[in-house]
Amino acid sequence: MKGPFIVFEGLDGAGTTTQLGLLQAWIERTYGRRVYATREPSGGPVGALLQQALRRRVTLDAKTLALLFAADRIDHLNTEVLDRLDAGIPVLCDRYYLSSYAYQLRDLPNRIEWLESLNAEAVRPDLTLLVDAPAEVCMERILASRWTTELFEETERLRAVRENYLALAQQRMSKQEKIDIIDGNRLPETVHTDICERVRPLFK
Ligand code: TYD
Repeated sequence: MKGPFIVFEGLDGAGTTTQLGLLQAWIERTYGRRVYATREPSGGPVGALLQQALRRRVTLDAKTLALLFAADRIDHLNTEVLDRLDAGIPVLCDRYYLSSYAYQLRDLPNRIEWLESLNAEAVRPDLTLLVDAPAEVCMERILASRWTTELFEETERLRAVRENYLALAQQRMSKQEKIDIIDGNRLPETVHTDICERVRPLFK
């Protein structure tokens, strides 16, 4: 794996998608490298089923959802990500296994070991950028930009997910995983500048 492989994580409304787009443009401009930008749930067959569940068109229990998110991740790695990393193409991914831990743990408390075992085959990113903002701020942004809310988007739920994210980040950083917590409660341009400084060492 060469890549680098950079993952964005955060609550719905935290700004990961905006920041991913800004970072992609910045890397292409600054280093003259083509960047592959992608996301999970993916555009593949398992991702399509997950999109149906997120839009409440099909109903699936929490364990089945956890299995599908993990299956989609493996499919996504095999069809879109790993070959590109091997070819030295930088890959930016909106959400990855930390989403599975932070979100699925909300409905499956005490199942972190099971969730980790489902994701054991998923390669570690070179850097995870956790764009952090309070649940209320994220909810306001969601409501300002959309008519409908998805399955995981109520404020109480987001509050619990944020706690999971922050606790998981601390634990995993102590196990030598590279995770940077970025204050997402600032102007997009300021957040972007901060992110560029964290990403720069990967391109030296
Ligand atoms: P999101 O990026 O918000 O999709 P959209 O652009 O359609 O709004 O992601 C969809 C939701 O899926 C989000 O609420 C988080 C959730 N999710 C999980 O619960 N587990 C996972 O493993 C992943 C990848 C996402």
